[in-house]
Amino acid sequence: MDYLVNDEALDVIFRKARTHNEWLPKPVSDDTLRRLYDLMKWGPTSANSSPARILFLRTPEAKQRLAPALSAGNLDKTMKAPVTAIVAYDIAFYEKLPKLFPHNQDARSWFANNAALAETTAFRNATLQGAYFIIAARIVGLDCGPMSGFNNAKVDEEFFSAGKEASLGRVRSNFLCNLGHGDATKLMPRNPRLDFDEACQLL
Ligand SMILES: Cc1cc2nc3c(=O)[nH]c(=O)nc-3n(C[C@H](O)[C@H](O)[C@H](O)COP(=O)(O)O)c2cc1C
Repeated sequence: MDYLVNDEALDVIFRKARTHNEWLPKPVSDDTLRRLYDLMKWGPTSANSSPARILFLRTPEAKQRLAPALSAGNLDKTMKAPVTAIVAYDIAFYEKLPKLFPHNQDARSWFANNAALAETTAFRNATLQGAYFIIAARIVGLDCGPMSGFNNAKVDEEFFSAGKEASLGRVRSNFLCNLGHGDATKLMPRNPRLDFDEACQLL
């Protein structure tokens, strides 16, 4: 047996899963978003740091707060998507290590005393969690439209500055991801990927 999961799972997660720009008028429940998070949270991060923080924008009011930060090419499709997630990272993630890494109560100090290490660790691991997020979204039946075409500073000011969402400016946006049920009839042909020998070496 070549794979441990069946063909349908491979298609849903990777082979037939596309990046979507057009959305069917089908709502996404809060329960589905909770199931998405309850899967993605199991993906590994260094020292179990789990630095990703996610804002799910699913009301017109929340979407309007995002609109001024979007690039022109991402505006319309984001306003039309049932949900847009701000996938962000907490540079003070180490405050939760006593819970997340309980067998080593020194772990907090590795990062609390080294801002550069904390930032690198937060960004690396939250980006990994962003990939787990996309995979989990597909498994709960959602299509994704990830985007980096936006002004991070504007998003951080609007959603993560002191006094807003109580995160005191320690959370920063990484990328956005539209979520919903994509209109497969509007997809362009898929672009190729690099072959094994173009991207990998066996040493
Ligand atoms: C982190 C990230 C950022 C992206 N940013 C944008 C973006 O700003 N605007 C956009 O239209 N597509 C964006 N894309 C979509 C990619 O171009 C798309 O996922 C890629 O071409 C693969 O398409 P496929 O999944 O249909 O094969 C982004 C994708 C990722 C993963």
